[in-house]
Amino acid sequence: MCGIVGYVGKKEAVPILLQGLESLEYRGYDSSGLAYFDEAQKKIDCFKGAGPVSCLKSQLAGIHHSGCIGIAHTRWATHGAPTQENAHPHLDNKGYFAIVHNGIIENYKLLKQDLEKRGYQFKSQTDTETAVHLWHAKNEHADAIRESFRQAILHMEGQFAFVGMGLDEPDRLFVFRRSNPLLIGLGRGENFVASDATAFLPYTNRVIYLGDDELAEVFKDHVRIYNLKSGRLIHKKSVHIDWSQEQAQKGNAPHFMFKEIHEQPEVLKKTLKQRIKNTQIIWNELRPKDLDKLKQIERILAVSCGTAYHACLASKYMFDACTGIPVSVDVSSEFRYSEQQLTRKDMVLLVSQSGETADTLAALNEAKRQGVFTLAIVNVRGSSLAREADAVIYTHAGPEIGVASTKAYTAQLMVLALLAIYLGIIRNKISKKDASAFLAQARKLPKYCLQIIQKKSAAVKSYAESLKDKPNFIYLGRGINFPTALEGALKFKEITYTHAHGYAAGEMKHGPIALIDDQLVVICIAPQSKTYEKMMNNIEEISARKGIVFSIGTEDDQRLIAKSRFFVGIPRILEIFSPILTVIPLQLLAYYVAVAKGNEVDKPRNLAKSVTVE
Ligand code: F6R
Repeated sequence: MCGIVGYVGKKEAVPILLQGLESLEYRGYDSSGLAYFDEAQKKIDCFKGAGPVSCLKSQLAGIHHSGCIGIAHTRWATHGAPTQENAHPHLDNKGYFAIVHNGIIENYKLLKQDLEKRGYQFKSQTDTETAVHLWHAKNEHADAIRESFRQAILHMEGQFAFVGMGLDEPDRLFVFRRSNPLLIGLGRGENFVASDATAFLPYTNRVIYLGDDELAEVFKDHVRIYNLKSGRLIHKKSVHIDWSQEQAQKGNAPHFMFKEIHEQPEVLKKTLKQRIKNTQIIWNELRPKDLDKLKQIERILAVSCGTAYHACLASKYMFDACTGIPVSVDVSSEFRYSEQQLTRKDMVLLVSQSGETADTLAALNEAKRQGVFTLAIVNVRGSSLAREADAVIYTHAGPEIGVASTKAYTAQLMVLALLAIYLGIIRNKISKKDASAFLAQARKLPKYCLQIIQKKSAAVKSYAESLKDKPNFIYLGRGINFPTALEGALKFKEITYTHAHGYAAGEMKHGPIALIDDQLVVICIAPQSKTYEKMMNNIEEISARKGIVFSIGTEDDQRLIAKSRFFVGIPRILEIFSPILTVIPLQLLAYYVAVAKGNEVDKPRNLAKSVTVE
């Protein structure tokens, strides 16, 4: 989705803006641009075009840029094709104002008609251009640019974030946020604005999170924040984010996805260290009243999208095993329109890596509208979901840059498993003895995860090379590893562009069996568990029809090895933790097939890292 970067300081803005845009490339985009205040000529210079940031860089090569304030954007087309005219920034007809924008201005057509009648000429098909002309129009009657910016926003409907600059006040950026990510990075003698902290991590870790309907003027050495409606100044504290620049860089790894798969043992270790003190499970972020709520809830409705949805599906088995609390799981896009009647004893659990997924935020709003307690499990600190839910638990996976989610997923599973055990303990469903047995097993996960990555990667890579041209893959699992089948298939189709379908193995006879022939690869997730024998029956049926069996099972399971064309063994672990291990070979398989096909692993076609529109 679109990315925003803004800079004001003492250094040349253009290289900083370009670097910021490069670090946002992972979000997915189709065109890019930037504008800066040209100090020599006292005007706003703008460069933009379709295609990647590297094209923008070539446009700018050899041009001397003398400005220390600027704005930049990566666009993911919504209104109008990805062309140079539609790329941001947009300038008004006189070149007084420049603006970049994320989100949608819902009433832009009406505003545009009115502005056209008043003589404004539109050069693009975007809704964004309306904002900049409106800003200019409002400025005719305002005594300060900030006020015309505020007036323009008050006339626009929708969810959006803006960063703009004005020729007459070239010492500051004008910033606004509503339901779209935007934060201010505080440096020394320089400040930043971005839709994602990774854009300014090389310079600062100190940030101010703008709230909804907050407007800011960002100068190089201070920031003023205002309430949109009243126009009054408000005070906001800055916070320190614990993400490092190295975490957001690829280093020597061939891809971010590769790096993030390999970071999983550390992420699990960190999660366990933070959440388990002696034999207690700790939730630092939760207040006593949140913990009280957790004691009282009678039903959990878990809501999320994509990979996070698969973590929620797995969590149902965890909650079932540990708590006895009824759990229902929905994708956010269904939940938000489902008209489900919620009660005060329900808890809506929202899981998200980015905390900015539009459908999940809409689901949160629906839950809040019905007055239900909402708990978010989120990776990005200060994200919309983290700020707007009643309570938040962070996953601490660090920045996830690869579009295909890996370490955020295993971190979500780990937190959800601990939450299920915690709820089991406080509701007397799990004895002290059982709890310590659970936690002893949990502590083994980082080591086991590392073992799989270190010892199995070479085999998975060679299997991937021999399977890379197969046209169809089915993933089968049962119980808590049914969601693993869905996740494995999602990962595979996202980055290999090959058809892959996840199925509950018990459903095989109800349809997918018709697909089996000697070209179909069937990935069977069959660790030794209560559904093992049933999985073995599935495997017999696949083999009888000459399907290619690729199984993930318990290490040294000779029976399974004998029935499989390809086999990856994982260490034996308690069932509620098994999805944390079974998914690792599936991530590696998707990764190596995508590499063997020469695909862009980190930025798969048509996908965006954070889906901020419906
Ligand atoms: C898949 C993937 C997506 C996300 C989904 C939700 O690899 O990354 O399916 O899981 O878009 O995103 P978040 O977790 O940010 O809400």
